[in-house]
Amino acid sequence: MKFLIINGPNLNNLGKRDPAIYGADTLSDLQERIEKRANDLDVDVEFFQSNHEGAIVDYIQASAPSSDGIVINAGALTHYGLSLRDALADTELPFVEVHLSNVHAREDFRHQSIIASISKGQIVGIGWQGYTFALEYLAKLLKDN
Ligand code: DQA
Repeated sequence: MKFLIINGPNLNNLGKRDPAIYGADTLSDLQERIEKRANDLDVDVEFFQSNHEGAIVDYIQASAPSSDGIVINAGALTHYGLSLRDALADTELPFVEVHLSNVHAREDFRHQSIIASISKGQIVGIGWQGYTFALEYLAKLLKDN
């Protein structure tokens, strides 16, 4: 069982970026914890981050056919990235939307997600654990089916 863990624009800057909101952990720190959880769950994970919507679309098109699900923090693309939405829909894979911060407690433009309605669910505001909970959910979903 293999899951794609995708991070969108500016998430490569975690650790330096607005630590009051996003915390002090770097993207590598997060990925290390996700990898550890994946090992415990006996599933494979593949990480991808890009600041470019088209690069994420290319990655999804290339990698989804050999994967079982997706955990995605699309960053600001969550709020307007229509080609990303189409790419996710085209995979027909189950995916979970994750946000480190509680987007609903922030600026109005962050309250809207254009991918939430095609996701299995959304996990927001609980930091890096959102990724591991999403992974646990997807692993169980696939095992039960
Ligand atoms: C974010 C929330 C988005 O609104 C923002 O643009 C990000 C990070 C989060 O993880 O809280 O880049 O997805």
